[in-house]
Amino acid sequence: MNEVLNAIASRRSVRAYKPDVIPGEMLTAILKAGQQAPYVSPDSRCFTVIRDRAVIDRLNRSAIAEGIKLGDFQRNLFSTPGFDGTYGAPTVVIVSGNESSIQYEAVCGASIQNMLIAAKSLGVGSCWAYFPLFAFHGAEREQWLKELLIPEGYKPCASVLLGYGIEGDAVEQDDRYENRVYFYPSS
Ligand SMILES: Cc1cc2nc3c(=O)[nH]c(=O)nc-3n(C[C@H](O)[C@H](O)[C@H](O)COP(=O)(O)O)c2cc1C
Repeated sequence: MNEVLNAIASRRSVRAYKPDVIPGEMLTAILKAGQQAPYVSPDSRCFTVIRDRAVIDRLNRSAIAEGIKLGDFQRNLFSTPGFDGTYGAPTVVIVSGNESSIQYEAVCGASIQNMLIAAKSLGVGSCWAYFPLFAFHGAEREQWLKELLIPEGYKPCASVLLGYGIEGDAVEQDDRYENRVYFYPSS
């Protein structure tokens, strides 16, 4: 395997972070990788970087408040005392899609995936996380859009948590699932 395939194969979601922020040049490189992902039109997406842990804590609380409304599973999980769906990450990057652009959610996802691989290649831990975006589901949506300066017409679609994992970035986890792959013609 080459370096790229190794980074893809060994990347796993990190769910416990040290408070230390990652160096600016690494963040810049990760954001650049996000912007180098395929797009439909140049203004299909924009990025919001949150590096203030107090703001991330507020986002976590808003997300919990909305997330618990989704069902029993979420209510049980998010009601656990001290629950933090951002896992203490010092940096959260939200990717928002231009609602007037086709397939903007796919475009945002492509950026997130590029950032995960870039982070892995730099020894930075990461996790693709929808959780923080629950904050935009309810009454606080407008306030968050305004506070985070997300432009009008853009919808927060996905986020990535970045930082150094407490256990490093090579977290031992369950085996990967293998998906079904069909070939045509089959022989
Ligand atoms: C669209 C999407 C949303 C996700 N949201 C969350 C999330 O909110 N919280 C979380 O801990 N992981 C989240 N994940 C990460 C997945 O749980 C994780 O990628 C999966 O379990 C496979 O593990 P791996 O990333 O270690 O390979 C999300 C993944 C995707 C693709």
